[in-house]
Amino acid sequence: MEEFRYKEDSLHCEEVAASDLAQAYGTPAYIYSKNSIVDHTRHFERAFGAIGHLSCYAVKANTNSAILGLLAHEGIGADAGSIGELHLALGAGFPAEKVTYSGVGKRDDEIEYALRRDILALNVESEGEIDVIRGIAGRMGLVARILLRVNFDIDAGTHPYITTGSRQNKFGVESGRAIDILTRAQTFPEIDVLGIHSHIGSQITSSGAFVDAARAALELAGRARTAGVNVRQVNLGGGFGVQYRNYLRHTLLPVEPDDQEEAGLTTVSMLRELLRVFGQAGCMLVVQPGRSLLAHAGILLTKVLYRKESGGKTFVVVDAGMNDLLRPSLYHSYHQIVPIAPHRAEHEVVDVVGPLCESGDFLAQDRILPRVDRGDILAVMCTGAYGYALASNYNARPRPPEVLVDGRSHTCIRKRETLEDL
Ligand SMILES: Cc1ncc(COP(=O)(O)O)c(C=O)c1O
Repeated sequence: MEEFRYKEDSLHCEEVAASDLAQAYGTPAYIYSKNSIVDHTRHFERAFGAIGHLSCYAVKANTNSAILGLLAHEGIGADAGSIGELHLALGAGFPAEKVTYSGVGKRDDEIEYALRRDILALNVESEGEIDVIRGIAGRMGLVARILLRVNFDIDAGTHPYITTGSRQNKFGVESGRAIDILTRAQTFPEIDVLGIHSHIGSQITSSGAFVDAARAALELAGRARTAGVNVRQVNLGGGFGVQYRNYLRHTLLPVEPDDQEEAGLTTVSMLRELLRVFGQAGCMLVVQPGRSLLAHAGILLTKVLYRKESGGKTFVVVDAGMNDLLRPSLYHSYHQIVPIAPHRAEHEVVDVVGPLCESGDFLAQDRILPRVDRGDILAVMCTGAYGYALASNYNARPRPPEVLVDGRSHTCIRKRETLEDL
């Protein structure tokens, strides 16, 4: 499953040397392993055993159409967060009956599009949204299938910006109001209440929060049934965390102190805990994994432009910045950074920074790295999810290409933007 590894001191993606990819496509460039995507997906799916379920890939993690096509081919579904993601998912071959639509601020035209395409369900976030959907469905002569997203006030123990299930987050309806909202919604002929939805955050590294959410959702489902609501689905969202530290090992690479939470973490072990709770709940389990399918399947190649000593620090200035990979700047996220051809034994503490006009433009701060020099190529690991998807043209910088490696072959699946594209 781990398709990025050193072969004779040269980082490879499957059978292709990263140096050849950098030569062919330039830097910065996102590189993905097809086998990794497929293997992660199959591994995830196998964990369910005989439990009736639907995995809807969270399209926001990586919206590349070629990658969406691969995932659709695996037979899973998709969860979209906008009309654009719906359009991409349906266009890439996900069948409408396996597509869901989540989001706290769906516009009327987005709701109409989803209803016209007859997707599996809209995950709704407020009473006001139910009324709007009801009105639109009525005008269209359709019945809208919905799940109610409920906020169970569970601390996912992750970065505040990616915590979504705490009471003060904007997501879902308060759990104390859920039964009233569900029973009211099911009286409307234009609405078919399928069930309950919960998504408590992203990069969650302890199964405890998931288990709490699953228990709360199942308990609510039980009460809703007693109140006469025909609950057929419980959607527990995504958020399964992945290992970012010490992802690649090499004798010349430093070993980071293990993040306690991430140590020994596997998505599947968390999923299994959750499945134990779900057991025979008597309804379909839906999940919406994003990061856990894609993060390990991609890297960002970047070239060292300059070394610079200043203010008692050593800066390694590279050609990828926060416009290419926003996660470190936005969430202080950790990504392992490695030379694609490690050859220096001495380690140093550096900031790896991008070329943009912001002090927040960094890929790593106070990081121990083998010494690197101008022209060296580095790989920023585990950037397959929320990497390109969060890229922008800030500072009028064209976005990098995306390349898919399959065994010995590689294909450009999104061209590098040009100045004319700006
Ligand atoms: C509603 C919803 N479902 C699923 C996901 C996917 O989360 P992850 O990529 O952590 O699995 C997200 C991401 O924030 C989300 O908002």
